[in-house]
Amino acid sequence: MTDFVSRKAARLKQSETFAIKTRAAELNAAGQNVVDLSIGEPDIDTPEHIKQAAVEALRNGKTKYTATAGIPDLLKAIVDKYWRENGLKFETKQIIVTNGGKQALYSCLDCVLNPGDEVILQVPYWVSYVPMIEMAGGVPVFVRPPAQRAFKLSPQELEAAITPRTKMFIFNSPSNPVGLGYSEAEIKALGAVLEKYPHVLILSDEIYEKIVFRDFKFVSFAKACPKLADRTITAAGCSKSFAMTGWRVGWAAGPLAIIDAMVKHQSQTTSNINSVAQYAAVAALNGPMDSLTAAVKSYARRVGRAVEILSAVPGLRINSQPIGAFYVYVTFAELRDRCKNPLVLKSSSFARYLLDEGKVACVPGEAFGDDDAIRLSVAAPDVAVESGCDRIAACVGRLLKSV
Ligand SMILES: Cc1ncc(COP(=O)(O)O)c(C=O)c1O
Repeated sequence: MTDFVSRKAARLKQSETFAIKTRAAELNAAGQNVVDLSIGEPDIDTPEHIKQAAVEALRNGKTKYTATAGIPDLLKAIVDKYWRENGLKFETKQIIVTNGGKQALYSCLDCVLNPGDEVILQVPYWVSYVPMIEMAGGVPVFVRPPAQRAFKLSPQELEAAITPRTKMFIFNSPSNPVGLGYSEAEIKALGAVLEKYPHVLILSDEIYEKIVFRDFKFVSFAKACPKLADRTITAAGCSKSFAMTGWRVGWAAGPLAIIDAMVKHQSQTTSNINSVAQYAAVAALNGPMDSLTAAVKSYARRVGRAVEILSAVPGLRINSQPIGAFYVYVTFAELRDRCKNPLVLKSSSFARYLLDEGKVACVPGEAFGDDDAIRLSVAAPDVAVESGCDRIAACVGRLLKSV
């Protein structure tokens, strides 16, 4: 039957983060005590007032198709949010509500890319960008800012990657997997390059905008670069900020022509987002933020602890101190050089060793285009983060001892 699978679909791989999570769950089911630091999902429940809004929507019969772009109250809540929090002025028709941030990104790519169009991505990148670009017919163009520069893209590197075929630059701050953030001045410097190339769109993935710490000040790309606002699409959603990964509510905001194309795309594919989840999202955006504040505090604390433990491990290096999201990105190139053990030849073999021997699940850097690293998620209880990092330290200690 595999002959029936299209060439496009045959190229697709299961998302690596989900594959690891599945393997960790299997080991746990077999009685092994695995610490799972693989998945990027808040470890708290959706706040009560958000659930309550969904219950009310159900009771009030809000169970039918909605407008394709989203219910008016949610479109308004998103417009209000951008004005209140980000200083960006949108009209409701510049917004589309999508099935999570993921669908906002994919639908946007599908609506702007022609076959062979290039999309600039900085490495390490979030796992799904590459398959999304390829499914939409585009070609990813990778830029590799050095680890020693904390993986931060310079204006010169961005400019060198732009060609006449470039259609889009994907920007993600705070980033997955590094927890990297760009200041307003740094965004403006990238924007100054992009101003010279009017054929390039910007897709700014701001899904982690509310999860920031260490005094980092989040600024939307379109706010930092107002001259580029008419070619910037901002994507975000409720998943990470409001612990709503399962509800699937994301959105895109941007130029009318592109949002209009995305609405048509959605009308022919998924019609609209789950009606009840949209009412929940209105409550999330307009409601109290105290559980978010508490969650961010806990991510900051756990990131700090993980960095502290792992920075002290010989052979491991954290090149970028996370300023947001809930990940710690650990480079093990020195460990590979020192112990020359096949177990650390590739990030997948290292992650597999840590899972099988140390009983700690993390994601191999190859999923992010970088075979020198692993990513830990600290969206897990403090004790799990602490013991996961201790287990990694012990595994690395054993590898070095055997040299
Ligand atoms: C950088 C980035 N963008 C987008 C998403 C998608 O989020 P959602 O669950 O809302 O589809 C994720 C989720 O892991 C992410 O890390």
